[in-house]
Amino acid sequence: MKILLAGGAGYIGSHTAVELLNAGLEVVIVDNYCNSSPVAVKRVEEITGKKVESFEADIKDKAKILDIMKQTKPDCVIHFAGLKAVGESVKLPITYYRNNIDTTITLLECMAETGVKSFVFSSSATVYGEENDIPYVETMRRGSCSNPYGWTKYMMEQILEDAAKADDKLSVVLLRYFNPIGAHESGKIGEDPQGIPNNLMPYIAQVAVGRRDHLTIFGNDYNTKDGTCRRDYIHVMDLANGHLKAVEYAAGNKGVSVFNLGTGQPYSVLEIVNAFEKANGIEIKYEFGPRRDGDLPEFWANADKAEKILNWKTTKTLEDMCRDTWNWQKNNPKGYETE
Ligand code: NAD
Ligand code: UD1
Repeated sequence: MKILLAGGAGYIGSHTAVELLNAGLEVVIVDNYCNSSPVAVKRVEEITGKKVESFEADIKDKAKILDIMKQTKPDCVIHFAGLKAVGESVKLPITYYRNNIDTTITLLECMAETGVKSFVFSSSATVYGEENDIPYVETMRRGSCSNPYGWTKYMMEQILEDAAKADDKLSVVLLRYFNPIGAHESGKIGEDPQGIPNNLMPYIAQVAVGRRDHLTIFGNDYNTKDGTCRRDYIHVMDLANGHLKAVEYAAGNKGVSVFNLGTGQPYSVLEIVNAFEKANGIEIKYEFGPRRDGDLPEFWANADKAEKILNWKTTKTLEDMCRDTWNWQKNNPKGYETE
């Protein structure tokens, strides 16, 4: 089976590429490198010892994507090619709507024209919005999102559902990720944010490596056990394995299926800081700051459906997540820029 990874040079895409190649699948990566580097693709080849077909292209460029799909003939498309910075999406909403929604529609059109019938989509826990109870279950209604990034995920899910309703041969799997962290155990690929990291774990890793002086913990007055927010952190290789299961599932099932990919176990910001320090023997300087706009006190997944239907279960511990993050960061202090 051949899988086209749109945005496959990015953080989750590159780890998924490794997982798919190791399972014996063929991989085609299409990326414009707006938030990644071609070095990631080389590293995927180094880790797996396998060749990856890769193309530099904007997924919004329909003529080019159609050409690539005709040439490579994938059986399934996984769509990672989104812009994902929440704060930036508030400042540049139109850029976010254009990129995230246009890429989705372009892929659907090219699939229709080339007869590709399986689509796996990188969605997010953010679609549950602010009004649902925790843990989040797939049957809950999509909530009111607090920012344009979240709304793009919400809208893309709707577009994909409508497309599957209109074509009974189409299979769409919506994967709602919780908080992916960690890196491949080789330390050759990992998360490489541009500029100041928005997310917790890359920020901690950059403090550890000396690129940032200290972490600011956004709020310690939440109604949680230590006052800091709690999230469902998931190792990126467990997440990558969820994509392998989703691709296999999409090959044998039609219509829309939705799966949470999380561990079901929340940790607080302070627990993450402490776990990183313990796993790696490094002190992380931090101070408490004000709450960040739009942050929810806590949420985590009910991941029973993925276990039951996809036969998927996370295997990595928080210690693995912290150790593998540091292994990547210490070997690549400036990310992929080192090459
Ligand atoms: P990433 O930025 O590392 O990867 C996205 C990739 O898509 C990058 O390589 C980027 O260059 C590429 N890309 C973006 N727009 C493109 C376009 N128009 N044409 C071609 N390539 C394009 O992000 P990631 O963390 O790997 O996330 C992958 C997907 O998962 C995104 O859709 C993101 O919204 C979603 N997601 C991520 C998280 C997370 O915490 N990382 C959580 C939930 C959902
Ligand atoms: C964020 C996005 C979410 C997106 C997800 C993955 C927001 C409000 N939410 O989730 O929509 O799907 O990333 O890209 O941005 N923290 C600090 N200091 C920091 C960074 C983070 O204390 O420097 C805290 C946050 O307040 C939060 C926790 O760490 O409590 C996790 O933050 P983060 O990694 O940004 O993920 P989310 O906010 O859960």
